Amino acid sequence: MKAPQGMDAGPPHAATVVSRTQESPTIFTLQLRLNDAAAQAAYQFAPGQFNMLYLYGVGEVPISITSDPGDRNDIGHTIRALGRVTRGLSDLQPGDQVGLRGPFGRGWPLQEVGGCDLVLVTGGLGCAPVVSVIHYILKRRDRFGKLVIIQGVKHAEDLIWREQYERWAKLPDTQVLVAASEGAALWPWHVGRVTDLFGLAQFNPARAAAMMCGPEGMMRVAADSLLARGLPDSRLYLSMERNMQCAVGLCGHCQLGGSFVCRDGPVFSWGQVKDLLAHRGF
Ligand SMILES: Cc1cc2nc3c(=O)[nH]c(=O)nc-3n(C[C@H](O)[C@H](O)[C@H](O)COP(=O)(O)OP(=O)(O)OC[C@H]3O[C@@H](n4cnc5c(N)ncnc54)[C@H](O)[C@@H]3O)c2cc1C
Ligand code: FES
Repeated sequence: MKAPQGMDAGPPHAATVVSRTQESPTIFTLQLRLNDAAAQAAYQFAPGQFNMLYLYGVGEVPISITSDPGDRNDIGHTIRALGRVTRGLSDLQPGDQVGLRGPFGRGWPLQEVGGCDLVLVTGGLGCAPVVSVIHYILKRRDRFGKLVIIQGVKHAEDLIWREQYERWAKLPDTQVLVAASEGAALWPWHVGRVTDLFGLAQFNPARAAAMMCGPEGMMRVAADSLLARGLPDSRLYLSMERNMQCAVGLCGHCQLGGSFVCRDGPVFSWGQVKDLLAHRGF
């Protein structure tokens, strides 16, 4: 998919926190709006792209855009409070200011996979870069075949957007498979590894595509399973994460083999990364 033009390598644009939602003990969602109304109205992104969020005086981090691509009012980011910047972002409240550059990178190839059954495989917060794909597909349901959503978490309490998974599971031609390695009371889904679920996915390999984001070990197992079922490797895509600084292909921090994740990714085809993924910790 051709990436919409981002706001380049210039200084961050000021944005206001419109709302903050606590999704789990460590994960929160910030809805942001650019202070410049014209820039907000012109802001467009493709599912799978990311922004650089700048916590003033602390630092800048890449964060996927989780909102519906059709929503021109707010720009959503779902974030795990992990280190210096993300913990600081977690303290922001409605009305607070943050810097934003983006959107950056290449998103999911949604034009190329029109008409296909789509298998979306995510682990942990890997669901963040994929949720805007789900919004995109559900708004254009007649353009795609079956939708299979597979999500794995370590503990049942780590599953965010639980009501959305329950709602999606009731939609026609939609299969939702969720696993938690550790279950909890009233956990309606599988207790065990997400890899246990790959064999249950219902799709026609001859006209299917898969999109994956999550721990690289999980993506390797998912790819092996889907390819063994006949999915062509030309229709298998992954979103990769690497530390970033410039986000525009200048600093080299996000190098992955001969590519830069910020500029050439974060979405890659299986063919582009399979040899690198074969080496743990590359
Ligand atoms: C394209 C892209 C999209 C991303 N989208 C999201 C998103 O939607 N939501 C989200 O919460 N995060 C996302 N991330 C990861 C996020 O950028 C990092 O968690 C963040 O940069 C950490 O910065 P920090 O200053 O808070 O932590 P730091 O102080 O830099 O690091 C704290 C600890 O976390 C570890 N760490 C740092 N980055 C990562 C990482 N990427 N994965 C695992 N461990 C890490 C460090 O090694 C260190 O131990 C994305 C990353 C990329 C490259
Ligand atoms: S973050 Fe600088 S080259 Fe990718």
